Amino acid sequence: MQKLAEILDIFAREIFDSRGNPTVAAWVTVRSAGGNVVTGTASVPSGASTGKYEAVELRDGDERRLFGRGCLKAVGNVNGLIAKELCGHDAADQRTIDRLLRELDGTPNKSKLGANAMLAVSLACADAAAKALGMPLWRYLGGVQAKRTFPKPMLNVINGGAHAGNNLDVQEFMIVPVGAQTFWNAMDHAVTVYHNLKRILAERGLSTAVGDEGGFAPNFRRDEDALSVICDAIEASGLKPGSDVAIALDVAASEWAGEDGNYHLPKAKKVYTPQQLIRRYRYLASLYPIISIEDGAGEDDATMWETLTQRMGRSTMLVGDDLFVTNAERLQRGIETGIANAVLVKPNQAGTLTETLETIALAQRNNYRVILSHRSGETADTFISDLACAVNADYIKSGAPCRAERTEKYNRLKAIYND
Ligand code: PGA
Ligand code: ZN
Repeated sequence: MQKLAEILDIFAREIFDSRGNPTVAAWVTVRSAGGNVVTGTASVPSGASTGKYEAVELRDGDERRLFGRGCLKAVGNVNGLIAKELCGHDAADQRTIDRLLRELDGTPNKSKLGANAMLAVSLACADAAAKALGMPLWRYLGGVQAKRTFPKPMLNVINGGAHAGNNLDVQEFMIVPVGAQTFWNAMDHAVTVYHNLKRILAERGLSTAVGDEGGFAPNFRRDEDALSVICDAIEASGLKPGSDVAIALDVAASEWAGEDGNYHLPKAKKVYTPQQLIRRYRYLASLYPIISIEDGAGEDDATMWETLTQRMGRSTMLVGDDLFVTNAERLQRGIETGIANAVLVKPNQAGTLTETLETIALAQRNNYRVILSHRSGETADTFISDLACAVNADYIKSGAPCRAERTEKYNRLKAIYND
């Protein structure tokens, strides 16, 4: 069969992410059926509060260089083994590309080649194939079903947890412009709230320095104060908390889970039992327009997940991030036991595009909401924006409207919206 995008060359390089940590970028050069030579590219983000079941990010471990975080081994795997294996294959045959990558790796968690090496190539192949076919990436990925709906943005305007040096234990306080009619309008609402939030924080003598995802990271007396100041900022923008702009939390509770089955908030130095924590969420959701809670329970705490879903699942989106790690098997188990009702999708947790798409399809078949997500350590890559539109994801989270690695994703969505 004629190849639509025959792979001529694969090349990777170590680049730096938004936190100044090394990561992998890859370029895949292909020849189209018409004989054009084009190059696709992708780079891989990196988390701080990584789930323990994520595919493995291969790091050099050589403490003499960049604290052991170097990615030269992963880069070497792309330029050596992977390039040798994939050259001559069709980049437009994504399933074969990803199968070959997985076979070459041969481990269950991608620890040999590194999920960072594999994902960079997997996504760059898709980008190259789209270019060879002369299609926008979202159209190539989603075909005729793409962009039936448009993802709503979730913007992390106050950062805490592992993403900031402040005293907030909750990792992300996000705003969701639910009342807006168009994506552009939604972004206008969100950005207006963001600027009013900055002004109000400054007026109250609080820091307006930002955390890893571009949200403000002041110290508050209690986590709850972050919720009330967000509502103040929404009102100051002439919008209504709840119907115009709602709130979503990522509490990242895996970071708090202790051996004793309780939750230890490291900054406030408080301990909650699972029951107390659920009661706390219900209390906060009764006072503030919280529509979504991510990782409300730890990744291994199936019992708390069940109770949480029974208590709050009808009214609130309960998102599994560390819980599902974009893994279809883990999601399938969650569906069977009835835990959570939404899945966070981070391609680098899975390690290939095919597996990412399988997880999304499984979620959609089972009525779980789909949220495409960036990582706290990001690059300029905007693949997730195209992917979100291709699969008709319900939401996308890419941090605050601040710092280019965050805004580029939103800017790409604006372009796709008008495409
Ligand atoms: P991470 O955080 O990229 O540091 O894992 C993002 C999240 O938990 O959603
Ligand atoms: Zn999360």
